[in-house]
Amino acid sequence: MSTPVDTTSASPYGTLPPTSTPALRKPISLPRLLEMRARGEKITMLTAYDATFAAVADAAGVDCILVGDSLGMVCQGLSSTVGVTLQDMCYHVQSVERGLRRSQATAWLIADMPYGSYLESREQALRSAAALMQAGAHMVKLEGGGWTTETVRFLVERGIPVCAHLGLTPQTVHALGGYRVQGKSVEAAALLKTQAHALQDAGAALLVLEMVPAALAAEVTAELTHCATIGIGAGKDTAGQVLVMHDMLGVNLGRMPRFVRNFMTGAAGVREAMHAYVQAVKSGEFPDNQLHAW
Ligand code: KIV
Repeated sequence: MSTPVDTTSASPYGTLPPTSTPALRKPISLPRLLEMRARGEKITMLTAYDATFAAVADAAGVDCILVGDSLGMVCQGLSSTVGVTLQDMCYHVQSVERGLRRSQATAWLIADMPYGSYLESREQALRSAAALMQAGAHMVKLEGGGWTTETVRFLVERGIPVCAHLGLTPQTVHALGGYRVQGKSVEAAALLKTQAHALQDAGAALLVLEMVPAALAAEVTAELTHCATIGIGAGKDTAGQVLVMHDMLGVNLGRMPRFVRNFMTGAAGVREAMHAYVQAVKSGEFPDNQLHAW
């Protein structure tokens, strides 16, 4: 059970809207996300790691907030996501969940299962997923196809919604040899498609496709019947899009991936930038396949 947030005492720091703010849109649920996919409305997803940015993203109309293990890089200063622990993830999920309750609390909250939290066994995965759900997540995300398919099935059968993740899977960056585009060869594309179908059959409702050729992402999206693809560096023809918040706000400390747009350009503030992102994705204006010519 999460503890109610005290909104009565004034804070000298940044204040969030009180819990009594009337909701302006219906809360996003899993059936609603799948309905959006079915009628061709693009799904918007953005990462957030703390209460304030989560509340702002929610108020800006973002459909899904992902507490990504990218927090290892953008919050903790690590060089990869491998060092992020389950404890770290639960801390950030709790913060985001509190922020959502201080806003409209309408966004769908997804939590990454961090490196090492589902490698040992399906039972270990279930314990880790349960900890993230108790921290406030509505869905967990885990990387990979192949052996992870049975883990996805095990969690879904136990009532835990799952988002899968194929293509560039940052937790295996050392095995992949760097942050490289995936699925370029005929064999790699065929394997990715097979894995996507298997993950859908295992019950994954969402599937992040990261850094794969736009044509491959479009084919996977068209072939899957009850799993919505969410692209990042995967072209415009996926069912939805996700970006790392710091990237789209132009505060990336490293090299900006070429598929990212800085939505702060021309925006009066963070909320406006996030709203511009939502509108650009919904209208199909972002991303631009020219920038995805892998
Ligand atoms: O950790 C993360 O932020 C992610 C997104 C890049 C999809 O997995």
